Amino acid sequence: MTNESLGFIHRFEPGPDTAHPLLLLHGTGGDENDLPPLGRMLAPNAALLSPRGAVSENGMPRFFRRLAEGVFDEADLRRRTHDLAGFVAAARDHYELGAPLALGFSNGANIAAALLMLRPEILAGAVLMRPMVPFTDPPAADLAGKPVLILSGAMDPIVPVENARRLAAQLMAAGAQVEHRILPAGHGLSQADLDRAADWLRDIALPRAA
Ligand code: MLT
Repeated sequence: MTNESLGFIHRFEPGPDTAHPLLLLHGTGGDENDLPPLGRMLAPNAALLSPRGAVSENGMPRFFRRLAEGVFDEADLRRRTHDLAGFVAAARDHYELGAPLALGFSNGANIAAALLMLRPEILAGAVLMRPMVPFTDPPAADLAGKPVLILSGAMDPIVPVENARRLAAQLMAAGAQVEHRILPAGHGLSQADLDRAADWLRDIALPRAA
């Protein structure tokens, strides 16, 4: 059920594992209802927290403004990243949750990457599906040991593989334990994305967060 409290329109789905919830971050034009079925499939026991991006681009929800495709309004991105961090902190308090693992797609993956870099205390780790480098000048973050899975598409027309490699290098330089998979796919998700995300959450991220 959609809830309008805590600063973001969002959906919360309880689960037995409240210590390791998933923060679900949709792509451009999505909303809080998009990713809960995927989150439930990938982490069957996790509590799910799914906010709707507060920016509207011609009616399409997003998590921050862009000037053109792949060209971000970085001042807005910074501001919205702090807003989302505030929401996560309020939701953790309200729903009694541990630090979440983010599961973000496209625009949602980009703000998850921004959260890791700007507010590293907020996330326990992240699955970034089709992300790109969020900041021209990456903030110096300490991500020591945080698990991050990056899933890129070899034929992605929106995110060049080189850009995703740069993001992986930035996160690794900050200390994150990064696995970067380049799959035979475009910008959309494939079965291989879902399989790797499920295995990685089960075998790597959830046990490490325990
Ligand atoms: C973005 O604006 O975050 C990226 O271009 C991905 C997208 O939303 O299309």
